[in-house]
Parts: sequence; C-alpha cells; structure tokens
Amino acid sequence: MKKRIIVGITGASGIPLAVHLLKELKKLPEVETHLVYTKGAEMTAEFECGCNMEEIRVLSDVCYDNENIGAAIASGTYHTEGMIVLPCSMKTVSGIAHGFSDNLLLRAADVTIKEQRRLILAVRETPLSPIHLENMLGLSRLTNVSIMPPVLSYYHLPMTVEDMERQLVGKILSRFHIEMEGFQTWN
Ligand SMILES: Cc1cc2nc3c(=O)[nH]c(=O)nc-3n(C[C@H](O)[C@H](O)[C@H](O)COP(=O)(O)O)c2cc1C
Repeated sequence: MKKRIIVGITGASGIPLAVHLLKELKKLPEVETHLVYTKGAEMTAEFECGCNMEEIRVLSDVCYDNENIGAAIASGTYHTEGMIVLPCSMKTVSGIAHGFSDNLLLRAADVTIKEQRRLILAVRETPLSPIHLENMLGLSRLTNVSIMPPVLSYYHLPMTVEDMERQLVGKILSRFHIEMEGFQTWN
C-alpha cells in the first residue's frame, strides 16, 4: 500500500512552498498525497502565484472539499503517515490548538494528533503575538507535533529563492524519512 500523506494548505503567505512540496511528493511513486485547502488559501494563491487552487490541486492524488467533514481523512480508521500543513495560518493554528474542528483541514489535523501520527505545522506570521506563541507552545508540547516555520537558511549557500524553498521542503520531508534530492544535510 502507498504511504498516504495529508497536505493542508491555508491562507497564510507561502503558497509557492506548498506547490514545491506537492511537486516533490509527486515524484515519489510510493507516496499518495491527500490534499485539503481552505477558502483563505484560494485568495492567497491568487496573490502569490497568480493562479487558482484548481491549478494546484492537480498536483495531488486525492483532493477533498474542505466543507466535507465526512471525508476519509476525517476518520482515524483511515490510515495515513501523517499531515503537513504548509503554509499554516495563525487562525488554523488556533483551531488545531483548541480542537475546534469546523472544517476538514482542522478535523484531519485533530485526527492526526489523536491517532499519534506525525503533524508538521509550517506556521507563518511575523511578528508573532503572545496569542500565536501560546497556541504554538501548547501544540509543540505534543510529541507528535512539530512546529516548523518556513524560516530562511543560508548555510547551504542558496543562490535563488528556489534553493531556499528546496531546503525548507527537504527538511519537512525528512520528518517522514523521505530523502529529497537537492536537500543539503550538514556533513
Ligand atoms: C496575501 C495574504 C497573505 C496572508 N498571510 C498570512 C500569514 O502569513 N499568516 C497568517 O496567519 N495569515 C495570513 N493571511 C490571513 C489569512 O489568510 C486569514 O487569516 C485567513 O482567514 C486564514 O484562514 P485559514 O487558516 O482558514 O486559511 C494572509 C492573507 C492574505 C490575503
């Protein structure tokens, strides 16, 4: 059976990173991506990629309606390797931190936590308020949750924005023991 990985996209800045992630996962025959995105993501995608989510969703294997709270990924009995929310808005962080699962993305994250599967939250906002930080602190205390803001790194000597993106996406995938081509580890 293929490894199912849920990808959630919210309306935070960083939609090109989600596109990069989906493209990388598409290269892996052993992985099946299950995509869910919010209304906010649709607006941010237009601003940041000049495209709509219809064009991005084709990069996934399965794509769900965020209103469909009865979809497969809403149940713990549907096995997945875990979930990556990239980019993850502060609104969605708040929903996940408080178990407020009123859409499929939030429900899938809630299920991922309760089933003790890996949940990566690529949280994005600056500056961060005490409300944001407290929500993230609570989540970071759960052993299966990683708070991974898409922060820039320079030690691998990036020449382009894409080099930066590759390093970020590679780091996220390494949490799923996926070795991404071009991801530079420290030797
Ligand atoms: C271009 C654009 C960039 C945004 N960037 C961020 C961001 O970096 N972080 C954030 O928390 N919200 C950001 N927002 C606001 C969220 O999209 C908004 O709070 C939305 O309601 C989040 O809901 P969602 O998590 O359901 O997508 C941005 C909105 C737009 C239009």
